[in-house]
Amino acid sequence: MCGIVSYIGPKEAYPIVIKGLKRLEYRGYDSAGVALINGDELNIYKTKGKVQNLEDSVVDKNISGHVGMGHTRWATHGEPNDENAHPHLSQSGNLAVIHNGIIENYATIKEELIKRGHTFSSDTDTEVLIHLIEDVQVNENISIDEAVRLALNQVIGAYAIVILVKNEPAKLIAARKGSPLVVGIGSEPGEYFMASDATPIVEYTRDVTYLNDGEIAIVKDGKLSIKTIENVAKTPFIQKLEINLEEIEKGGYPHFMIKEIYEQPKSIHDSIRGRIDPSRGKFAMRSIHEYEDKLRNIKRLILIGCGTSWHAALVGEYLFEEFARIPVEVEYASEFRYRDPIIYPDDLVIAISQSGETADTLAAIELAKEKGATVFGVCNVVGSSIPRMSHAGAYTHAGPEIGVASTKAFTAQVSVLTLMALAVAQIRGTISQERLRFVLSEIEAIPNLVEKALKTNDEVMKIAEKFKDARNFLYLGRGVNFPVALEGALKLKEISYIHAEGYPAAEMKHGPIALIDEEMPVVVIAPKRGMYEKVMSNIQEVKARKGKIIAIVTEGDTKVREMADHVIEIPDTEEALTPLLSTIPLQLLSYHIAVLRGCNVDQPRNLAKSVTVE
Ligand code: G6P
Repeated sequence: MCGIVSYIGPKEAYPIVIKGLKRLEYRGYDSAGVALINGDELNIYKTKGKVQNLEDSVVDKNISGHVGMGHTRWATHGEPNDENAHPHLSQSGNLAVIHNGIIENYATIKEELIKRGHTFSSDTDTEVLIHLIEDVQVNENISIDEAVRLALNQVIGAYAIVILVKNEPAKLIAARKGSPLVVGIGSEPGEYFMASDATPIVEYTRDVTYLNDGEIAIVKDGKLSIKTIENVAKTPFIQKLEINLEEIEKGGYPHFMIKEIYEQPKSIHDSIRGRIDPSRGKFAMRSIHEYEDKLRNIKRLILIGCGTSWHAALVGEYLFEEFARIPVEVEYASEFRYRDPIIYPDDLVIAISQSGETADTLAAIELAKEKGATVFGVCNVVGSSIPRMSHAGAYTHAGPEIGVASTKAFTAQVSVLTLMALAVAQIRGTISQERLRFVLSEIEAIPNLVEKALKTNDEVMKIAEKFKDARNFLYLGRGVNFPVALEGALKLKEISYIHAEGYPAAEMKHGPIALIDEEMPVVVIAPKRGMYEKVMSNIQEVKARKGKIIAIVTEGDTKVREMADHVIEIPDTEEALTPLLSTIPLQLLSYHIAVLRGCNVDQPRNLAKSVTVE
């Protein structure tokens, strides 16, 4: 949520910053802005809307300079207009800041600063922060580095910030608490990059260091130093980036979303690769082995996440209950964190997150840890905050997901949760070796079956054409495919702005059935394994009310075909694994409907991918 990028070094900063902003645009696209230092000038250009608007607006402006920073905004405080766009200036104009996060006590600080003669030109919390820093600097007559440190000690909330100093052009200051920030060490002397994630950096260097909460990074006269806001010096831990440039480009596809949908055979394969040995019925998952004793004795499992990750958690509930026979609760991280939940030391909490940075999920983990639970993270972004905060966990290895609507991250999460559930089942003796070996061999086949499921694309496109103007959609599923119905509906809502609801099929008669008429498309997930007969009855109920049925069935199915208006076939597999296949045509359906409606598929309105504010 909000993307920040900055550069200091021998190259021209603007091209690096603007390209970086385009790579970070998935984090928010309400407004965009840059600040560049050129000699003794500090030039700021900012505008409402996308990075492209900004680029168009600077055509005849002075954009040179070797120090620069840029921001793409997802609005929190203040509407998305030019004034509220970042960067923001201090009272004297000597300092400029970009910020990702929320300063919660900004109103009190602002009031105080106004009394002291400060004037503000935006409604943002960010402008208050940079005024505060300058105020501290002037009043205490101290260096800007020290003023940043002292001011941050007064601030409540979350931030990743970068500051340019007009009268110290060889300096760049950054700090983080609760919002991510990575520093890239360039190949040329004195060259550094600072950004919300590694995507703007990978083109130039693979050497990075991730700032920890409460750390300040200062580049001064070509040298990087890091200290905490308590003024303790830190040695940067430099690590190699694992992502490649091709992974963050569209590679010939019109949108990231469709590229990512088609990457699923590989992303699922990468998520299970090296972790299972079907012929011997064995697992190689470090966290599971390390915590074997704990896992044998846990009394309850709590799965937490937000958005699509919460849907993966719901699938996980079925998997852990079926295989490992552990009572499971699934919680929205945002609710869990404020509910004073009852947590015992023998609870295991699994936090699921693509980005590893979702603020509510982070806060929920903190709470669970405080109450003594063991916390595992299932995350996609290597080096992100959630894996670092968790006791243990497993990465999903889906590769960078850029489309705001999550696709390959979801199936990777479900894949990893499946392995975890089976591994825990083995430890607890709730699954026979024979059955385990069989399920593992079925999992091994999934990437090829996803490849087959993707072949439904042409069929799905025809259905999309037919229903693209529908005003409502209903998605129904049962058992492990109920969360898939929720996820299918979410995908459609997110990117095509059609109202859609996911429901457990049998619950339809308690409400949504009232909505059904000849206009209403109803997507029913009806694979032959898993309450097939029951789902057929639900289809009859829709049919009797003239609803239009789009059914996802197992290949070769004849019974549902007789009743449905449209049928999409997916390959057969073990019931617990069907979400990995049934979700594919639903992703394709939402994608094609959104494209046909002319929607911005990768950057749907009002949404952002990495939600670093609560
Ligand atoms: C946002 C994204 C969703 C994502 C959710 C949780 O709403 O648009 O795609 O599912 O955040 O994010 P996480 O990174 O924690 O999975």
